[in-house]
Amino acid sequence: MEKLQAIKGFKDILPDDSPRWRTVEVAASDVFEAYGYAEIRIPTLEYTELFARSIGSETDIVEKEMYTFEDAGGRSLTLRPEGTAGVVRAYIENGLFKSRPRSKVYYIGPMFRRERPQKGRLRQFHQLGVEAFGTDAPMVDAEQIAMLDMLFAKLGVESIEPVINSLGCPKCRPSYREKLVDFLAAIPEKDLCPNCLRRRATNPMRVLDCKNERCGKALENVPTIFDDLCDSCRAHHEAVEKYLDIYGVSYRSDPRLVRGLDYYIRTAFEFVSDKLGAQGAVAAGGRYDGLVEELGGPPTPAVGFAVGTERLMMLLPSQTETRPPDVFMALLGDRATAFGLKLSQALRARGYRCEMDYQSRGLKGQMKFAGRLGAAFVLIVGDGEMDSGKAVLQDMAEGRKESIGIDEEIKQVADAVAVALGK
Ligand code: HAM
Repeated sequence: MEKLQAIKGFKDILPDDSPRWRTVEVAASDVFEAYGYAEIRIPTLEYTELFARSIGSETDIVEKEMYTFEDAGGRSLTLRPEGTAGVVRAYIENGLFKSRPRSKVYYIGPMFRRERPQKGRLRQFHQLGVEAFGTDAPMVDAEQIAMLDMLFAKLGVESIEPVINSLGCPKCRPSYREKLVDFLAAIPEKDLCPNCLRRRATNPMRVLDCKNERCGKALENVPTIFDDLCDSCRAHHEAVEKYLDIYGVSYRSDPRLVRGLDYYIRTAFEFVSDKLGAQGAVAAGGRYDGLVEELGGPPTPAVGFAVGTERLMMLLPSQTETRPPDVFMALLGDRATAFGLKLSQALRARGYRCEMDYQSRGLKGQMKFAGRLGAAFVLIVGDGEMDSGKAVLQDMAEGRKESIGIDEEIKQVADAVAVALGK
């Protein structure tokens, strides 16, 4: 029989790893909530047209990376490749633009892109994302970058740097695009990779993002959007820089930074690390002032970003920190077992981690198992202890033993054990 396997590019997060995931997710929610963001949970599956209309039909994601299929009713559905489109749909569909026009939301969860799996690139990956609606103030763009900076500092991530750019707006971008198209048209075919050859006709801004060495050479003197920014885009960008300075966030400006999704205008940014090889962007985002209207809502400026959780995790110290049991119940005989089950319930209700052996093995076997689990204490209870009303609580690290009265109400016994555990 063929061995059952997970889908290529889809990974299990095993119990040894999940505490680190939780640490990151809790740190992110804490930081996001300190800035006034509230959690939103949106579906993983959406109608395909949502992504085609928002991310852009000429993007890699929509052209070739989406997991799209028809449901039994013949509707085309897609596993979300990112979070922004769904959040915007939810913002419009639930009337948040009326009830909470200045919504600031965050989300945590899996995204799906059928890319070629490699280090830092999966087909099911996870994002920690935020979206802020209803203000076009550059202060918000800078605040989000400062917020990410704080999250990374809190997690002890080093060697990561924000890179920012302005992509202009529908007023000033077309004239730049024309200049760029002319420049690209003059490059001989042999000097561009097949992808860029295609892109120069369909989505020329994306050519700027090509990592191919040959293309890099051909683009050495490419015009950047900076000279073509209109006055308000320029003022917006300068204000973002000013606020970053006020926040004390050091950043790099890169006039060639572009994004793989079409909805951005003005601010675009990435947090990059040189520790991740080719997939250096740990977080990325920017402003998308036209998207809410494009998807059927009222004109609403917005800005957001998403962190790639797996990439962030690769920058964290690798520690496994599964929580060992606070107390292990070594139980011998039916009476002791019944007592131990009740006492465990009482201690677990207070938040202590209690373990036991479910196999009715002898004391030696149970002590060995407790040691293997790394239990801090073991409470030994057998018929003798039930008769005498006293049991031994052993501190496994120091070998110290303490007698605990067990012939009281379970609540009192739990109190006594809790005191002895010293927590
Ligand atoms: P994005 O640049 O496509 O933007 O993705 C954001 C981050 O997700 C990337 O910087 C990377 O860390 C991570 N990521 C993307 N694809 C993969 C993959 N295949 N495997 C592992 N990690 C990956 C967005 O998704 C936008 N929705 C961000 C945004 C929110 N813009 C405004 N609001």
